[in-house]
Amino acid sequence: MKITIDGPAGSGKSSVAKEVSKRLGIPYLNTGLAYRAFAYVSMKDGLQDVFEVFERPIQIVPQVAQTQVVYEGEDIQDRLHSEEVGRRASQIATLPGFRERINRFFRELLGEGEAVVEGRDAGTHIFPRAELKIFLTASAEERAKRRWQQLKREGLQADYEEVLKAILERDHRDANRPLYPFRPAEDAVLIDTTHMSIEQVVHKVLTLLEEIKGKSLKG
Ligand code: C5P
Repeated sequence: MKITIDGPAGSGKSSVAKEVSKRLGIPYLNTGLAYRAFAYVSMKDGLQDVFEVFERPIQIVPQVAQTQVVYEGEDIQDRLHSEEVGRRASQIATLPGFRERINRFFRELLGEGEAVVEGRDAGTHIFPRAELKIFLTASAEERAKRRWQQLKREGLQADYEEVLKAILERDHRDANRPLYPFRPAEDAVLIDTTHMSIEQVVHKVLTLLEEIKGKSLKG
């Protein structure tokens, strides 16, 4: 059983995916964190050819409610959240062939096992046959507010209007890129989280899952 949870930044997908993984007691794969890990290692090791990262000793370890990232025996999770690493991750994500290669890595990593998979294309390209596909949305203003609040909590200076502008630009770029434009899978369930709490979204996902299980039992 695979549950994919996709959506743009600020839609609440990480919080929801972690909580669903915890409630079900099944591993959680944060694919964005893996993109970041590969981006970080390619920068740190000054790789000319980014594809060489797949030969490096990077371990992505999906666990209940967290995805652990180990490089050369060290947990590097803390180093992956900077803007610089995020930017590099977005760049390598657009290189021809990179998505195919990393998606193969994700499929080999999880095999047929149960997992909650969070990303942008988990339901469209990584696991197109997932049993339950969720696509979270929220208004750009709400997503900007959440991001702005998060930056403030981290003690960083942030201007709401600038955060909103960056989000609108990123939405436009993601939806219009020629290769793999960012869209929900046709069979994904869309949930608008603008006026919902994390708990309400988690409840909705678990209810949908029960419905699917009920149907498959009835044959
Ligand atoms: O989710 P997060 O913001 O940490 O992901 C970092 C970047 O990696 C994204 O901005 C996106 O460009 C890329 N990414 C992707 N496909 C995924 C996950 C992440 O293109 N499934």
